[in-house]
Amino acid sequence: MTTSRGAAAGDDADGDAVIRPAERADLLGVFRIEKAVFTQPWPYAAFEQLLDAPAFLVAEGDGGGSPEASRIDAGDVLGYVVGDLTPNHGRDIGHVKDLAVRPDAQGEGLGRRLLRTALRELAGRGASAVKLEVRESNHRAQELYSDEGFRPARRVPRYYGDGEAAFVMRLDVGDWVRRRNAAGE
Ligand SMILES: CC(C)(COP(=O)(O)OP(=O)(O)OC[C@H]1O[C@@H](n2cnc3c(N)ncnc32)[C@H](O)[C@@H]1OP(=O)(O)O)[C@@H](O)C(=O)NCCC(=O)NCCS
Repeated sequence: MTTSRGAAAGDDADGDAVIRPAERADLLGVFRIEKAVFTQPWPYAAFEQLLDAPAFLVAEGDGGGSPEASRIDAGDVLGYVVGDLTPNHGRDIGHVKDLAVRPDAQGEGLGRRLLRTALRELAGRGASAVKLEVRESNHRAQELYSDEGFRPARRVPRYYGDGEAAFVMRLDVGDWVRRRNAAGE
């Protein structure tokens, strides 16, 4: 995996959160966030099964940063993204299956960093396109995805167990990489 400790360290308010591949020891922290932010959380076993997914990444707090960030202990899982890859006749399709940030760490740029790191990873492993599903009512996540270049491909009625529809969104990840490189990132 090309992602390494420190590779994506940035300037968010939570000190220098590091984005790195998920490990088994992270799963409880991941699952706590999942239960806190989703009305229909994945079961713990789903994360266990995806531990080896190519872009199952966590953001880990270093406990440092600004005084108001003192709620963050070193090693805390602050967020995660689960990105997988499906072979498709030489044009592999990436799939961002899950993305979440701990409620008290949201709005500080971590969700975007996690998403971007996963997209880099999936592109580096040969994905030509990346898709995801998002709840019709989740405007906040849709805003982030649109801003990164995802476009709605279709609407799937009653996609979720509670009857809500999903938008399937799709990104040409080759174009995305070229845009990011052109922006010097
Ligand atoms: C969606 C989520 C992952 C975004 O992570 P985050 O760390 O809060 O987001 P960021 O700080 O990186 O912000 C990224 C973008 O999200 C959008 N966003 C963030 N906070 C927002 C808010 N309060 N209202 C509207 N849009 C918002 C904006 O487009 C923002 O870009 P900007 O800062 O340039 O305006 C996070 O809010 C979350 O975990 N939500 C609950 C779980 C969820 O809905 N996951 C997505 C499932 S498809």
